Amino acid sequence: MKILFLDQSGKPGGAELCLMDIAKPYGDRALVALFADGDFKTLLQQQQIPVEVLATQPINVQKQSNLLQALFSFKQLFPLLIKVVKLAKKYDLIYANTQKALVIGALASVLARRPLVYHLHDILSSEHFSQTNLRVAVTLANFFASLVIANSQASQTAFVQAGGKPELTAIVYNGFASNNYQIPEDEIKQTQKDLDIQGKFVVGHFSRLAPWKGQHILIAALAQCPPQVTAILVGDALFGEQDYVQALHQQVAKLGLENRVKFLGFRSDIPQLMAACNLVTHTSTAPEPFGRVIVEAMLCGTPVVAAKAGGAVELVEHGVNGFLITPGEPQELAKVINTALQEIEITATIADYARNIASQRFDIATINQEIAQLLCSGKIKLSGTEVVDFEDAQD
Ligand code: UDP
Ligand code: GLC
Repeated sequence: MKILFLDQSGKPGGAELCLMDIAKPYGDRALVALFADGDFKTLLQQQQIPVEVLATQPINVQKQSNLLQALFSFKQLFPLLIKVVKLAKKYDLIYANTQKALVIGALASVLARRPLVYHLHDILSSEHFSQTNLRVAVTLANFFASLVIANSQASQTAFVQAGGKPELTAIVYNGFASNNYQIPEDEIKQTQKDLDIQGKFVVGHFSRLAPWKGQHILIAALAQCPPQVTAILVGDALFGEQDYVQALHQQVAKLGLENRVKFLGFRSDIPQLMAACNLVTHTSTAPEPFGRVIVEAMLCGTPVVAAKAGGAVELVEHGVNGFLITPGEPQELAKVINTALQEIEITATIADYARNIASQRFDIATINQEIAQLLCSGKIKLSGTEVVDFEDAQD
Protein backbone atom coordinates (compact mmCIF):
# COMPACT_ATOMS: atom_id res chain seq x y z
CA MET A 1 0.00 0.00 0.00
CA LYS A 2 1.25 3.46 -0.89
CA ILE A 3 0.48 6.20 1.61
CA LEU A 4 0.52 9.96 1.33
CA PHE A 5 1.01 11.36 4.83
CA LEU A 6 -0.02 15.00 5.34
CA ASP A 7 1.17 17.18 8.23
CA GLN A 8 0.83 20.94 8.58
CA SER A 9 3.93 21.46 10.69
CA GLY A 10 7.57 21.93 9.84
CA LYS A 11 8.39 21.60 13.53
CA PRO A 12 8.95 18.34 15.35
CA GLY A 13 6.15 18.20 17.93
CA GLY A 14 4.86 14.93 19.39
CA ALA A 15 2.39 14.30 16.55
CA GLU A 16 5.21 14.68 14.02
CA LEU A 17 7.59 12.38 15.93
CA CYS A 18 4.81 9.79 16.08
CA LEU A 19 4.20 10.11 12.33
CA MET A 20 7.89 9.56 11.64
CA ASP A 21 7.76 6.14 13.32
CA ILE A 22 4.59 5.19 11.44
CA ALA A 23 5.87 6.27 8.00
CA LYS A 24 9.33 4.69 8.34
CA PRO A 25 8.45 1.03 7.56
CA TYR A 26 6.77 2.07 4.30
CA GLY A 27 10.06 3.34 2.82
CA ASP A 28 9.57 4.59 -0.73
CA ARG A 29 5.91 3.57 -0.65
CA ALA A 30 5.24 6.59 1.55
CA LEU A 31 5.62 10.30 1.12
CA VAL A 32 5.34 12.79 3.96
CA ALA A 33 4.00 16.05 2.53
CA LEU A 34 4.47 19.02 4.86
CA PHE A 35 2.66 22.36 4.73
CA ALA A 36 5.68 24.18 6.18
CA ASP A 37 9.45 23.89 6.03
CA GLY A 38 11.53 23.33 9.14
CA ASP A 39 13.53 20.94 11.32
CA PHE A 40 10.95 18.19 10.97
CA LYS A 41 11.87 17.89 7.29
CA THR A 42 15.53 17.42 8.25
CA LEU A 43 14.62 14.74 10.80
CA LEU A 44 12.62 12.85 8.16
CA GLN A 45 15.50 13.10 5.70
CA GLN A 46 17.92 11.78 8.31
CA GLN A 47 15.66 8.73 8.69
CA GLN A 48 15.50 8.30 4.87
CA ILE A 49 11.75 8.93 4.88
CA PRO A 50 10.63 10.59 1.60
CA VAL A 51 9.48 14.12 2.33
CA GLU A 52 8.26 17.07 0.30
CA VAL A 53 7.43 20.57 1.51
CA LEU A 54 4.35 21.79 -0.35
CA ALA A 55 3.77 25.29 1.01
CA THR A 56 6.33 27.94 1.70
CA GLN A 57 3.98 30.36 3.48
CA PRO A 58 2.59 29.44 6.89
CA ILE A 59 -1.18 28.85 6.98
CA ASN A 60 -2.87 31.29 9.32
CA VAL A 61 -5.54 29.27 11.09
CA GLN A 62 -4.98 29.30 14.85
CA LYS A 63 -6.43 26.88 17.41
CA GLN A 64 -8.88 29.61 18.42
CA SER A 65 -9.82 30.88 14.92
CA ASN A 66 -13.38 32.00 14.14
CA LEU A 67 -15.36 31.10 11.04
CA LEU A 68 -14.43 34.26 9.13
CA GLN A 69 -10.72 33.72 9.65
CA ALA A 70 -11.13 30.08 8.72
CA LEU A 71 -12.90 30.97 5.46
CA PHE A 72 -10.35 33.65 4.65
CA SER A 73 -7.56 31.16 5.03
CA PHE A 74 -9.18 29.03 2.33
CA LYS A 75 -7.71 31.41 -0.25
CA GLN A 76 -4.31 30.44 1.03
CA LEU A 77 -5.19 26.78 1.05
CA PHE A 78 -6.33 26.47 -2.57
CA PRO A 79 -2.89 26.22 -4.27
CA LEU A 80 -1.88 23.72 -1.60
CA LEU A 81 -5.00 21.64 -2.28
CA ILE A 82 -4.16 21.43 -5.99
CA LYS A 83 -0.69 20.11 -5.16
CA VAL A 84 -2.08 17.54 -2.72
CA VAL A 85 -4.70 16.29 -5.22
CA LYS A 86 -2.00 15.76 -7.86
CA LEU A 87 0.19 13.87 -5.40
CA ALA A 88 -2.66 11.85 -3.92
CA LYS A 89 -3.40 10.29 -7.29
CA LYS A 90 -0.05 8.49 -7.05
CA TYR A 91 -0.92 6.96 -3.67
CA ASP A 92 -3.58 4.56 -2.38
CA LEU A 93 -4.48 6.42 0.78
CA ILE A 94 -4.31 9.88 2.33
CA TYR A 95 -3.25 9.90 6.00
CA ALA A 96 -3.91 13.28 7.69
CA ASN A 97 -1.88 13.75 10.85
CA THR A 98 -3.04 17.22 11.97
CA GLN A 99 -6.18 19.35 11.74
CA LYS A 100 -5.14 21.52 8.80
CA ALA A 101 -3.98 18.33 7.09
CA LEU A 102 -7.49 17.00 7.69
CA VAL A 103 -9.05 20.01 5.95
CA ILE A 104 -6.87 19.62 2.87
CA GLY A 105 -6.93 15.83 3.06
CA ALA A 106 -10.74 15.71 3.15
CA LEU A 107 -11.11 17.83 0.02
CA ALA A 108 -8.28 16.00 -1.74
CA SER A 109 -9.81 12.63 -0.91
CA VAL A 110 -12.93 13.59 -2.85
CA LEU A 111 -11.10 15.19 -5.77
CA ALA A 112 -8.46 12.48 -6.11
CA ARG A 113 -10.84 9.67 -5.16
CA ARG A 114 -8.63 8.27 -2.44
CA PRO A 115 -9.72 7.17 1.03
CA LEU A 116 -8.81 9.32 4.02
CA VAL A 117 -7.50 8.31 7.44
CA TYR A 118 -7.27 10.90 10.20
CA HIS A 119 -4.78 10.38 13.04
CA LEU A 120 -6.26 12.38 15.90
CA HIS A 121 -3.53 13.64 18.23
CA ASP A 122 -5.73 16.22 19.99
CA ILE A 123 -8.39 16.36 22.63
CA LEU A 124 -11.15 18.09 20.71
CA SER A 125 -12.57 20.12 23.58
CA SER A 126 -13.14 23.82 24.21
CA GLU A 127 -10.13 23.82 26.57
CA HIS A 128 -7.92 23.38 23.52
CA PHE A 129 -9.90 24.68 20.51
CA SER A 130 -12.43 27.28 19.37
CA GLN A 131 -15.98 26.09 18.63
CA THR A 132 -15.33 26.69 14.91
CA ASN A 133 -12.25 24.53 14.87
CA LEU A 134 -14.02 21.78 16.77
CA ARG A 135 -16.98 21.81 14.42
CA VAL A 136 -14.81 21.83 11.29
CA ALA A 137 -12.63 18.94 12.53
CA VAL A 138 -15.51 16.73 13.63
CA THR A 139 -17.66 17.41 10.56
CA LEU A 140 -14.83 16.73 8.12
CA ALA A 141 -13.83 13.57 9.95
CA ASN A 142 -17.43 12.33 10.05
CA PHE A 143 -18.06 12.95 6.37
CA PHE A 144 -14.77 12.20 4.73
CA ALA A 145 -12.62 9.90 6.91
CA SER A 146 -12.89 6.13 6.71
CA LEU A 147 -10.99 5.78 9.94
CA VAL A 148 -10.06 8.04 12.85
CA ILE A 149 -7.07 6.75 14.80
CA ALA A 150 -7.21 8.34 18.26
CA ASN A 151 -3.96 8.51 20.20
CA SER A 152 -5.73 7.66 23.48
CA GLN A 153 -9.06 6.78 24.98
CA ALA A 154 -9.26 10.40 26.17
CA SER A 155 -8.91 11.75 22.61
CA GLN A 156 -11.46 9.22 21.34
CA THR A 157 -13.96 10.16 24.05
CA ALA A 158 -13.61 13.88 23.37
CA PHE A 159 -14.08 13.26 19.63
CA VAL A 160 -17.32 11.38 20.25
CA GLN A 161 -18.51 13.97 22.79
CA ALA A 162 -17.91 16.69 20.18
CA GLY A 163 -20.21 14.80 17.77
CA GLY A 164 -17.70 12.44 16.11
CA LYS A 165 -18.99 9.06 14.93
CA PRO A 166 -17.75 6.38 17.34
CA GLU A 167 -17.82 3.65 14.64
CA LEU A 168 -15.07 5.48 12.73
CA THR A 169 -12.62 5.36 15.62
CA ALA A 170 -9.86 3.06 16.77
CA ILE A 171 -7.49 3.79 19.66
CA VAL A 172 -3.80 3.29 18.98
CA TYR A 173 -1.14 4.53 21.38
CA ASN A 174 2.18 5.98 20.19
CA GLY A 175 4.89 3.35 19.71
CA PHE A 176 8.54 3.55 20.79
CA ALA A 177 11.73 1.60 20.08
CA SER A 178 12.71 0.79 23.66
CA ASN A 179 16.36 0.08 22.80
CA ASN A 180 16.78 3.78 21.93
CA TYR A 181 16.11 4.56 25.58
CA GLN A 182 18.68 2.20 27.11
CA ILE A 183 21.55 4.51 27.93
CA PRO A 184 24.88 3.11 29.21
CA GLU A 185 26.03 4.32 32.64
CA ASP A 186 29.13 6.09 31.26
CA GLU A 187 26.99 8.14 28.85
CA ILE A 188 24.68 9.14 31.71
CA LYS A 189 27.69 10.25 33.78
CA GLN A 190 29.05 12.24 30.84
CA THR A 191 25.70 14.00 30.33
CA GLN A 192 25.55 14.89 34.03
CA LYS A 193 29.09 16.25 33.82
CA ASP A 194 28.32 18.28 30.69
CA LEU A 195 25.31 19.82 32.40
CA ASP A 196 27.19 20.30 35.66
CA ILE A 197 24.48 18.51 37.65
CA GLN A 198 26.55 15.75 39.33
CA GLY A 199 25.46 15.08 42.92
CA LYS A 200 22.24 17.05 42.50
CA PHE A 201 18.72 15.65 42.58
CA VAL A 202 17.66 16.50 39.04
CA VAL A 203 14.05 16.97 38.03
CA GLY A 204 13.51 17.13 34.25
CA HIS A 205 10.74 18.70 32.24
CA PHE A 206 10.63 17.77 28.54
CA SER A 207 8.06 19.72 26.58
CA ARG A 208 7.79 22.66 24.27
CA LEU A 209 7.49 25.86 26.28
CA ALA A 210 3.77 26.67 26.24
CA PRO A 211 1.44 27.81 29.04
CA TRP A 212 -0.66 24.62 29.03
CA LYS A 213 2.45 22.46 29.32
CA GLY A 214 2.80 24.04 32.78
CA GLN A 215 6.54 24.56 33.22
CA HIS A 216 5.56 27.30 35.72
CA ILE A 217 4.07 24.61 37.98
CA LEU A 218 7.44 22.89 38.24
CA ILE A 219 9.25 26.15 38.97
CA ALA A 220 6.74 26.99 41.73
CA ALA A 221 7.16 23.47 43.18
CA LEU A 222 10.93 23.76 43.12
CA ALA A 223 10.76 26.69 45.51
CA GLN A 224 9.24 24.28 48.04
CA CYS A 225 12.02 21.68 47.71
CA PRO A 226 15.44 21.51 49.40
CA PRO A 227 18.36 23.30 47.66
CA GLN A 228 19.92 20.15 46.18
CA VAL A 229 16.85 19.77 43.95
CA THR A 230 17.61 21.22 40.52
CA ALA A 231 15.45 21.42 37.39
CA ILE A 232 16.26 21.15 33.71
CA LEU A 233 13.66 22.50 31.28
CA VAL A 234 14.14 20.87 27.88
CA GLY A 235 12.20 22.23 24.91
CA ASP A 236 11.59 25.41 23.01
CA ALA A 237 8.63 27.66 22.28
CA LEU A 238 7.70 25.94 19.02
CA PHE A 239 4.67 28.08 18.22
CA GLY A 240 5.76 31.59 19.17
CA GLU A 241 4.96 31.55 22.92
CA GLN A 242 7.66 34.14 23.66
CA ASP A 243 5.63 35.89 26.38
CA TYR A 244 5.44 32.65 28.31
CA VAL A 245 9.19 32.10 28.00
CA GLN A 246 9.79 35.56 29.39
CA ALA A 247 7.32 34.93 32.23
CA LEU A 248 9.16 31.70 33.13
CA HIS A 249 12.51 33.52 33.35
CA GLN A 250 10.90 36.22 35.50
CA GLN A 251 9.36 33.60 37.80
CA VAL A 252 12.77 31.93 38.24
CA ALA A 253 14.38 35.29 39.08
CA LYS A 254 11.59 36.28 41.46
CA LEU A 255 11.92 33.02 43.40
CA GLY A 256 15.73 33.29 43.45
CA LEU A 257 16.11 29.96 41.62
CA GLU A 258 18.61 31.07 38.95
CA ASN A 259 21.17 28.50 40.14
CA ARG A 260 18.65 25.72 40.28
CA VAL A 261 16.88 25.98 36.90
CA LYS A 262 18.52 25.39 33.54
CA PHE A 263 16.75 26.16 30.26
CA LEU A 264 18.28 23.82 27.69
CA GLY A 265 16.18 24.71 24.63
CA PHE A 266 15.18 22.10 22.02
CA ARG A 267 17.37 18.98 22.22
CA SER A 268 17.65 15.83 20.14
CA ASP A 269 19.28 13.74 22.90
CA ILE A 270 16.11 13.21 24.96
CA PRO A 271 16.91 9.63 26.13
CA GLN A 272 20.35 10.69 27.41
CA LEU A 273 18.92 13.70 29.23
CA MET A 274 16.01 11.77 30.73
CA ALA A 275 18.35 9.03 31.91
CA ALA A 276 20.47 11.71 33.62
CA CYS A 277 17.45 12.87 35.67
CA ASN A 278 16.25 11.51 39.01
CA LEU A 279 12.64 12.32 38.20
CA VAL A 280 10.75 13.44 35.09
CA THR A 281 7.76 15.72 35.57
CA HIS A 282 4.78 16.21 33.30
CA THR A 283 2.73 19.21 34.41
CA SER A 284 0.15 19.98 31.72
CA THR A 285 -2.63 22.16 33.07
CA ALA A 286 -5.11 21.08 30.36
CA PRO A 287 -5.73 17.39 29.60
CA GLU A 288 -2.81 15.87 27.68
CA PRO A 289 -4.00 13.92 24.62
CA PHE A 290 -1.36 11.20 25.04
CA GLY A 291 1.96 12.42 26.48
CA ARG A 292 4.96 10.88 24.74
CA VAL A 293 7.34 12.26 27.35
CA ILE A 294 5.66 10.16 30.05
CA VAL A 295 6.33 6.91 28.19
CA GLU A 296 9.84 8.00 27.22
CA ALA A 297 10.73 8.63 30.87
CA MET A 298 9.45 5.16 31.73
CA LEU A 299 11.56 3.60 28.97
CA CYS A 300 14.63 5.39 30.34
CA GLY A 301 13.96 3.87 33.77
CA THR A 302 13.49 7.32 35.28
CA PRO A 303 10.56 7.75 37.69
CA VAL A 304 7.82 9.92 36.28
CA VAL A 305 5.12 12.12 37.78
CA ALA A 306 2.27 13.22 35.53
CA ALA A 307 -0.72 15.55 35.69
CA LYS A 308 -3.83 13.45 36.27
CA ALA A 309 -5.98 14.21 33.20
CA GLY A 310 -6.46 13.09 29.60
CA GLY A 311 -4.26 10.34 28.22
CA ALA A 312 -1.79 10.56 31.13
CA VAL A 313 -4.26 8.66 33.31
CA GLU A 314 -4.15 5.77 30.83
CA LEU A 315 -0.37 5.66 31.03
CA VAL A 316 0.29 6.05 34.75
CA GLU A 317 -1.12 4.20 37.73
CA HIS A 318 -0.24 6.13 40.87
CA GLY A 319 2.29 4.33 43.05
CA VAL A 320 2.56 1.42 40.59
CA ASN A 321 4.44 2.68 37.51
CA GLY A 322 4.72 6.37 38.41
CA PHE A 323 2.94 9.12 40.26
CA LEU A 324 -0.08 11.28 39.47
CA ILE A 325 -0.82 14.78 40.71
CA THR A 326 -3.76 17.15 40.34
CA PRO A 327 -3.08 19.43 37.33
CA GLY A 328 -1.98 22.94 38.27
CA GLU A 329 -1.05 22.11 41.90
CA PRO A 330 2.61 22.92 42.69
CA GLN A 331 2.25 21.84 46.35
CA GLU A 332 1.30 18.32 45.30
CA LEU A 333 4.19 18.21 42.87
CA ALA A 334 6.61 19.39 45.56
CA LYS A 335 5.35 16.59 47.82
CA VAL A 336 6.05 13.95 45.16
CA ILE A 337 9.51 15.40 44.46
CA ASN A 338 10.34 15.31 48.17
CA THR A 339 9.05 11.74 48.47
CA ALA A 340 11.16 10.64 45.49
CA LEU A 341 14.17 12.34 47.10
CA GLN A 342 13.69 10.48 50.38
CA GLU A 343 12.30 7.11 49.33
CA ILE A 344 14.88 6.19 46.77
CA GLU A 345 14.39 2.41 46.83
CA ILE A 346 10.61 2.37 46.47
CA THR A 347 10.83 4.97 43.71
CA ALA A 348 13.48 2.92 41.86
CA THR A 349 11.28 -0.20 42.08
CA ILE A 350 8.36 1.74 40.58
CA ALA A 351 10.59 3.02 37.76
CA ASP A 352 11.92 -0.49 37.00
CA TYR A 353 8.42 -1.86 36.81
CA ALA A 354 7.34 1.04 34.58
CA ARG A 355 10.24 0.37 32.19
CA ASN A 356 9.33 -3.32 31.81
CA ILE A 357 5.65 -2.70 31.23
CA ALA A 358 6.17 0.29 28.91
CA SER A 359 8.62 -1.56 26.65
CA GLN A 360 5.93 -4.20 26.00
CA ARG A 361 2.86 -1.97 25.97
CA PHE A 362 4.23 0.65 23.57
CA ASP A 363 6.46 -1.54 21.40
CA ILE A 364 6.77 0.22 18.03
CA ALA A 365 6.73 -2.98 15.94
CA THR A 366 3.46 -4.13 17.53
CA ILE A 367 1.86 -0.70 17.22
CA ASN A 368 2.90 -0.37 13.57
CA GLN A 369 1.37 -3.77 12.90
CA GLU A 370 -1.87 -2.65 14.52
CA ILE A 371 -1.95 0.41 12.26
CA ALA A 372 -1.12 -1.64 9.16
CA GLN A 373 -4.00 -4.00 9.97
CA LEU A 374 -6.40 -1.10 10.42
CA LEU A 375 -5.33 0.41 7.10
CA CYS A 376 -5.95 -2.88 5.30
CA SER A 377 -9.25 -3.54 7.00
CA GLY A 378 -12.62 -3.32 5.27
CA LYS A 379 -13.18 -0.05 7.11
CA ILE A 380 -11.14 1.85 4.56
CA LYS A 381 -13.52 3.20 1.95
CA LEU A 382 -13.82 6.19 -0.26
CA SER A 383 -16.29 8.67 1.21
CA GLY A 384 -19.54 7.19 -0.02
CA THR A 385 -19.58 3.44 -0.23
CA GLU A 386 -16.88 2.25 -2.55
CA VAL A 387 -14.37 -0.09 -0.85
CA VAL A 388 -10.87 0.32 -2.23
CA ASP A 389 -8.96 -2.74 -3.33
CA PHE A 390 -5.36 -1.67 -2.79
CA GLU A 391 -3.98 -4.39 -5.06
CA ASP A 392 -5.69 -2.69 -7.97
CA ALA A 393 -5.44 0.89 -6.82
CA GLN A 394 -3.42 2.79 -9.40
CA ASP A 395 -3.27 6.21 -10.89
N1 UDP B 1 11.08 16.66 22.53
C1 UDP B 1 12.28 16.75 21.85
N2 UDP B 1 13.13 17.75 22.18
C2 UDP B 1 12.84 18.67 23.12
C3 UDP B 1 11.60 18.58 23.80
C4 UDP B 1 10.74 17.55 23.48
O1 UDP B 1 12.59 15.92 20.97
O2 UDP B 1 13.67 19.55 23.37
C5 UDP B 1 10.17 15.54 22.18
C6 UDP B 1 9.80 14.65 23.35
O3 UDP B 1 10.81 13.71 23.58
C7 UDP B 1 8.50 14.04 22.88
C8 UDP B 1 7.90 15.14 22.00
O4 UDP B 1 8.93 16.08 21.77
O5 UDP B 1 8.73 12.87 22.10
C9 UDP B 1 6.74 15.84 22.66
O6 UDP B 1 5.64 15.01 22.62
P1 UDP B 1 4.50 15.01 23.71
O7 UDP B 1 3.53 14.00 23.26
O8 UDP B 1 5.04 14.80 25.07
O9 UDP B 1 3.88 16.47 23.68
P2 UDP B 1 3.42 17.44 22.47
O10 UDP B 1 4.44 18.52 22.39
O11 UDP B 1 3.32 16.63 21.25
O12 UDP B 1 2.08 17.97 22.90
C1 GLC C 1 0.05 15.65 20.29
C2 GLC C 1 -0.40 15.70 21.74
C3 GLC C 1 0.43 14.81 22.64
C4 GLC C 1 0.66 13.44 22.02
C5 GLC C 1 1.24 13.60 20.63
C6 GLC C 1 1.46 12.25 19.93
O1 GLC C 1 1.11 16.49 20.02
O2 GLC C 1 -0.39 17.01 22.25
O3 GLC C 1 -0.19 14.63 23.90
O4 GLC C 1 1.50 12.67 22.84
O5 GLC C 1 0.37 14.35 19.83
O6 GLC C 1 0.25 11.55 19.74
